[in-house]
Amino acid sequence: MPSLDAFDRLLNSGYPGPATMAAAVAATAAAVLASRFSTLFHSSSYYFSSSIYFAGFRRPLSLSFRRRSGQSFRMGHVTAATRATLGLTKPAVVEIPQITFAAKEIDFAEWKGDILAVAVSEKDMSKDSNSTFENSILKRLDEKLGGLLAEASVEEDFTGKAGQSTVLRLPGLGFKRIGLVGLGQCSPSSTTTAYRSIGESIAVVAKAAQASNAAVVLASCNEISEEFKLNTASAIASGTVLGVYEDNRFKSDSKKTHLKAVDIIGLGSGPELDRKLKYASDVCSGVIFGKELVNAPANVLTPGVLAEEASKVASSYSDVLTATILDAEQCTELKMGSYLGVAAASSNPPHFIHLCYKPPDGDVKRKLAIVGKGLTFDSGGYNIKTGPGCSIELMKFDMGGSAATFGAAKAIAQIKPPGVEVHFIVAACENMISGTGMRPGDIVTASNGKTIEVNNTDAEGRLTLADALVYACNQGVEKIVDLATLTGACIVALGPSIAGFFTPSDDLAKEIVAASEITGEKFWRMPLEESYWESMKSGVADMVNTGGRQGGAITAALFLKQFVEEKVQWLHIDMAGPVWNDKKRAATGFGVSTLVEWVLKNSS
Ligand code: BES
Ligand code: MN
Ligand code: ZN
Repeated sequence: MPSLDAFDRLLNSGYPGPATMAAAVAATAAAVLASRFSTLFHSSSYYFSSSIYFAGFRRPLSLSFRRRSGQSFRMGHVTAATRATLGLTKPAVVEIPQITFAAKEIDFAEWKGDILAVAVSEKDMSKDSNSTFENSILKRLDEKLGGLLAEASVEEDFTGKAGQSTVLRLPGLGFKRIGLVGLGQCSPSSTTTAYRSIGESIAVVAKAAQASNAAVVLASCNEISEEFKLNTASAIASGTVLGVYEDNRFKSDSKKTHLKAVDIIGLGSGPELDRKLKYASDVCSGVIFGKELVNAPANVLTPGVLAEEASKVASSYSDVLTATILDAEQCTELKMGSYLGVAAASSNPPHFIHLCYKPPDGDVKRKLAIVGKGLTFDSGGYNIKTGPGCSIELMKFDMGGSAATFGAAKAIAQIKPPGVEVHFIVAACENMISGTGMRPGDIVTASNGKTIEVNNTDAEGRLTLADALVYACNQGVEKIVDLATLTGACIVALGPSIAGFFTPSDDLAKEIVAASEITGEKFWRMPLEESYWESMKSGVADMVNTGGRQGGAITAALFLKQFVEEKVQWLHIDMAGPVWNDKKRAATGFGVSTLVEWVLKNSS
């Protein structure tokens, strides 16, 4: 994750400058910027200068740094030097909890360790006329505990509802504690979610007890079919990993996680289950990566740092991934006026990021693209976000689409599905305000030649996606899925936890629905109502970028459609709601798991 190693190295190596902190920070920050660019850009050199071009215009940003001297640097905006380390925030390097899951076929009563968790549904809790459990596992346990379980469940009012849990400390037994965790009613349609929340409950009780190991057994595991056992085990494992994980990179004192090992009892064992658990762990690492990208504030995660993070993923899995990062100049050559228009106000330059996954044996039957909105901050631009409820302070999450894209890339690079090539594409930038920025009313020209009258600078996501979609089509892909925190209107329509999706393709709609049914992420298909295009017409250009308040998520989707070739199957996901969990005040990692399932369904 974002780390400013260079900053550290320079400070530690005794930077030969004035002893004031401010000067040291300014100079090292300039050097960090320069060194970062030198490693990120193809034209790698110690000297960096950046210009942003518009279709036909050239507006240089006066930014230039010289690294070797460490002292001689010149900046158009003084603040540019401090930007890379603005606020001096440096994310702590924290290790992602490594929990070993082992599927075992042993008698749970013989298990020894810190906490034995029993997952029970509301039905499992039923008792006979003598107040003893009808469920055989609970009955046996309760006998072993001299009726303590039945007693405690009554006293603690534990009824097996989803999310309920109760823990008893037991001296003198093989396991130090027993926990009951509620599965709810456990209808077949909600099983993945129910078992994932069992994992989350295990994480909660293990944290409270500072347990370093745990075992989980299902009270009614005999009723689960073989195929379902695999899914159940992997859902429990992912729930536990994601439940234990806390993003503490920006807290000065972070709690340590103790949980190291979890035994899953009674759901089978063997290579097939181990493969499934490995898959779950790969997906979790992508989800956590996605969450960290979204949680990182905009002063830390600039477009350049996002590009660096994506490049790091590519170099960690260089057997299957390659990275191409385009700077503003290269984007100008590709005539991406719509994207560059959005980027124009910011002193943090845009980075167009393209990762490509190719299967290890090189045999490709299908080509896909995943395109993510990558606004590392959205101030609204001249149409600045003001007023209550505009959530400007949360707009670091406006790169949630790109986080899902790179989270999926990370997972897929580990899973290595055969027969499928996947392009991960993000036009990363910031939507800021300055004298070089786009004005309301400006006309920009996208890379497919279409002209756009920008009647609202706050509808910037679609402007960046326009050029990213044209670029994706040029990769010769069959299908494109784009993800974007695109409209507040979609949150109004579907609330905070459901993503809207739009597509002219019923087949692609089915694929995404099928994938989401496995992952439990919530999606709802929305109409691409062509008659609403009327409101997107401009008197002077090919289109405007916003069409008024009504049906705002639909007109945004219709806008994107203008930049996708007819022959390409395309599906747009508006994830403005589910990107963020208001209650937890943190990112959700939304999209990663469903994208991975979708890619797997397209592999062979
Ligand atoms: N990033 C926002 C969308 C958004 C808003 C996401 C609130 C999450 C929470 C997007 O760039 C935007 O500003 N959209 C405008 C579009 C409008 C100007 C047509 C919006 O939704 O208000
Ligand atoms: Mn906006
Ligand atoms: Zn936005």
